[in-house]
Amino acid sequence: MSMLTYLTAGESHGKALTAIIEGIPANLKIDIKFINDELQRRQLGYGRGRRMQIEKDEIQVLSGVRDGITIGSPVSFTIENKDWANWQSKMDVESVKDSEELSTPRPGHADLAGSLKTGLKDLRNILERSSARQTAALVGVGSFAKLFLKEFAVDILSRVTSIGKVKAKNSPIEVSMLEEIDKSPVRVTDKIAEKDMVAAIEEAQNKGDTLGGTFEVVAKGLVVGLGGYSTSGKRLDGRLCQALTSIPAIKGAVVGQIEDSVHLPGSEAHDEIHFDKEKGYYRKTNKAGGIEGGISNGSDIVLKGFMKPIPTLSKPLATVDMKNKKAAQAFKERHDTVAVPAAAVIAESAVAIVLASAMLEKFGADNLDDLKQNYKNYLKRIKLM
Ligand SMILES: Cc1cc2nc3c(=O)[nH]c(=O)nc-3n(C[C@H](O)[C@H](O)[C@H](O)COP(=O)(O)O)c2cc1C
Repeated sequence: MSMLTYLTAGESHGKALTAIIEGIPANLKIDIKFINDELQRRQLGYGRGRRMQIEKDEIQVLSGVRDGITIGSPVSFTIENKDWANWQSKMDVESVKDSEELSTPRPGHADLAGSLKTGLKDLRNILERSSARQTAALVGVGSFAKLFLKEFAVDILSRVTSIGKVKAKNSPIEVSMLEEIDKSPVRVTDKIAEKDMVAAIEEAQNKGDTLGGTFEVVAKGLVVGLGGYSTSGKRLDGRLCQALTSIPAIKGAVVGQIEDSVHLPGSEAHDEIHFDKEKGYYRKTNKAGGIEGGISNGSDIVLKGFMKPIPTLSKPLATVDMKNKKAAQAFKERHDTVAVPAAAVIAESAVAIVLASAMLEKFGADNLDDLKQNYKNYLKRIKLM
């Protein structure tokens, strides 16, 4: 169940990525520079491959926006692949001229299962869409969701918490830290960990290897009562973890401090409830990560994502050639050594889309001003309870 629906399309080395979004209310101001900045943030991070130097993603909005304002119709956009000129002969829609058939599937990728599933023998037909390039379109969609959430003073932040074996020491994340995080080559606030992470990436690079890691995403300023407990499809925790683990290579997502609290007795694992005339209901801790019973509880929503090491390796892993069934080495593509910093930015978008949708479910979807009025009335009502 979702009020904000979208579909992205586009191959990694095709002409362009594209997306259609349905459900953005009319009258939302659209800042194209903000969207392009978000696309840029996805492309940064130490340890990215040459591809990210070639692409400078820029959005071209095709519909749903007029005079800088959404008009309630589906929003559609494209993001061109700048490298298309070099790939047209291999990826042309009508006639492919000089493409070698790939038949040695890479462990850790969709290559083998995707080929068996679709019956397509050239693995390029699988990898072109299963590649994480599609996340540029996701960030495009997420930027619209972020612009919507900003109208309600909701901010979504992220930072890297570990790369390989190097863990960052973290104090709670604040909006004021975002600039510093974005300037860090590995998107951390801990400068010692930053140095160690860069060294670990260089070491992996020199060995022809790759690394994974973890990141956190925090949503601040969200109202109590989003999501629901009545059916599994409404639960905000389930929806957010689904959104995070739908990003390529994100294999786990957790809410709040569950990694610690799973080892604690119940008496130490929850956030006791207090009341203050000014603040209303509040908590002194946020072990739950802002969600109880599948509903936002008014505290920051805190999520952590776990990214596996990049599976394309310069020193390829063992595989089987699907043409002759003989032992072989997996094929090589241009690849990143580490993409955890980028994954964290993508995760902000994935989270923004779920939260924007939950806001639309609770407060209506046709017109932003109606929605704001409903929001205000709701705040007034819960203040009396
Ligand atoms: C931002 C980002 C960049 C990525 N870059 C690469 C890459 O350069 N090479 C690669 O093999 N995998 C890369 N991946 C991971 C693969 O897309 C992913 O592992 C693969 O599609 C298989 O999907 P799965 O890991 O979800 O099972 C990247 C993932 C993200 C989020």
